[in-house]
Amino acid sequence: MPDYALGLSAQNLVLQAVAEGLVAHQMGGFSREAIASSFALPSTARAVVAIAVGTLAPLRCSPRTWRREVVSRVRKPLSELVFTDSWGNPAF
Ligand SMILES: Cc1cc2nc3c(=O)[nH]c(=O)nc-3n(C[C@H](O)[C@H](O)[C@H](O)COP(=O)(O)O)c2cc1C
Repeated sequence: MPDYALGLSAQNLVLQAVAEGLVAHQMGGFSREAIASSFALPSTARAVVAIAVGTLAPLRCSPRTWRREVVSRVRKPLSELVFTDSWGNPAF
């Protein structure tokens, strides 16, 4: 169940950050080797995701990045993601 626990932990961290008026940015695109080396991870630990937590700082990012952060989000409809009875049968 470690994948499930990791997902729950990450989601809880993101929700708590938002509840406290912060922003959490999840990242899968990083060097696992660099993280393992920088933080002296033992062989039993594996970096899976990095999550930056902070405040939005418009003056410190490019206009392109800023636009990406504040644009309205388009989310997939739940009917594409949540099924009942059998795979592909929308629950909502
Ligand atoms: C598992 C996961 C990995 C991600 N990896 C990256 C990443 O490596 N670099 C990046 O800029 N955004 C990455 N993102 C996207 C951002 O964390 C964020 O979801 C995106 O900017 C959209 O923001 P929003 O979820 O508030 O709409 C990742 C998101 C998830 C869920």
